[in-house]
Amino acid sequence: MEALKGVNILDFTHVQSGPTCTQLLAWFGANVIKIERPGGGDITRSQLRDIEEVDSLYFTMLNHNKKSITLNIKDKSGKEVLEDLIKKSDVFVENFAPGTIERMGYGWDEIQKINPKIILASVKGFGPGPYEDCKVYENIAQCAGGAASTTGFLDGPPLVTGAQIGDSGTGLHLALGIVTALFQREKSGKGQRVDVSMQDGVVNLCRVKLRDYQRLKSGPLNEYSQYGKGIPFTDTTPRSGNDSGGGQPGWILKCKGWENDPDAYVYFITQAPVWDKICRVIGKEEWIEDQGYSSPKARLDKLELIFNTIEEWTKTKSKYDVVSICDPLGIPCGPILSMKEIANDQSLKDTGTIVEVDHPVRGKYISVGCPIKLSDSKAEVSRSPLLGEHNDEVLRDILNYDEDKINKVKQSDAMK
Ligand code: COA
Repeated sequence: MEALKGVNILDFTHVQSGPTCTQLLAWFGANVIKIERPGGGDITRSQLRDIEEVDSLYFTMLNHNKKSITLNIKDKSGKEVLEDLIKKSDVFVENFAPGTIERMGYGWDEIQKINPKIILASVKGFGPGPYEDCKVYENIAQCAGGAASTTGFLDGPPLVTGAQIGDSGTGLHLALGIVTALFQREKSGKGQRVDVSMQDGVVNLCRVKLRDYQRLKSGPLNEYSQYGKGIPFTDTTPRSGNDSGGGQPGWILKCKGWENDPDAYVYFITQAPVWDKICRVIGKEEWIEDQGYSSPKARLDKLELIFNTIEEWTKTKSKYDVVSICDPLGIPCGPILSMKEIANDQSLKDTGTIVEVDHPVRGKYISVGCPIKLSDSKAEVSRSPLLGEHNDEVLRDILNYDEDKINKVKQSDAMK
């Protein structure tokens, strides 16, 4: 049994943030109908194309398990179809630029008149305030949410990360908001608005950096490696390179083959309870009893030397060997995995996190399956829809239009 079976989602989303959210709901069994502009559809269908005339991986990897209908919302007949769909839906999800959905005539007040029980879920770049009218993409959210100022090395510029915390991160937040609103509706009988701004989503994920900003008022942050190096702090959270962030110092260390392999590295944490084991494994037994090394506090001003010494050892081993030696000893470490290694990782394939999907035009490709595992609602990944693939099915089976009405809609400009 799929957890969200019977929940009807009208998916008026595009690009990444909104589609991530509705894809998750579809994986849990919701019936997701994606509305796309006739002609090109979601702009990502044709962005970053690797094969001519074929839906891009950008699109296919964000729109699994959905149906697609084309609807021109600026056409009268298109509006009628949309309104009939709104009447049949539990949730309406959109991530248009600020003001767009209102200009279309489907803001909160209007949509509620059509279906008082509906949940309207929106992603915008910013919440109410000076930037509320701005259009926002991933990296803007990472910058405006505080992530970029805390990422990178101390002597370098702010850096954005590869993880799509602004887009996919906000989609995740929105999905939780939608499911929560559906749960409340069970008791209240009423719909509500669910708003998530990309800035808020990133700020939420940067919580520990805001923690550190406040800790600075009480003195320097001694778990940051700049402390041990004697570099003064300013009045805000600095960029901390590969510092571990928690109370246990960590760093990325070179492994065997690093000269030619950009990913021959391991993340190594000098967790205090296993300090003696670390010393033994790297052949530095004398550090176990040495007062200058034996306590976490004593080690703070020597972290660079300590990690350089550990690196002399890791450089003699592959990243996988480092992990297989350290893991049984309880020393926390992990390999730096490339996307090629992720794509071919057997355990990720076994759990359905990496899946192979067959597409009628593209053929087989690799994608990321549902990362949230429910024991009683297994997410099976099915391919993304072709543009307008479900036009007939939606008009006939969901809206129960007769042949005459279907023909009228198709002859109008609604789906062209
Ligand atoms: N039928 C008719 N018109 C349609 C349509 C349809 N099915 N679908 C879209 N349109 C129209 C809209 O009405 C709008 O027209 P208008 O400006 O005349 O009102 C137009 O298409 C463009 O939509 P918009 O969302 O404004 O796209 P954009 O390309 O200008 O901006 C973003 C793209 C992503 C920057 C913007 O949508 C945004 O900021 N979204 C919120 C934040 C977000 O999710 N960003 C991350 C994306 S991963």
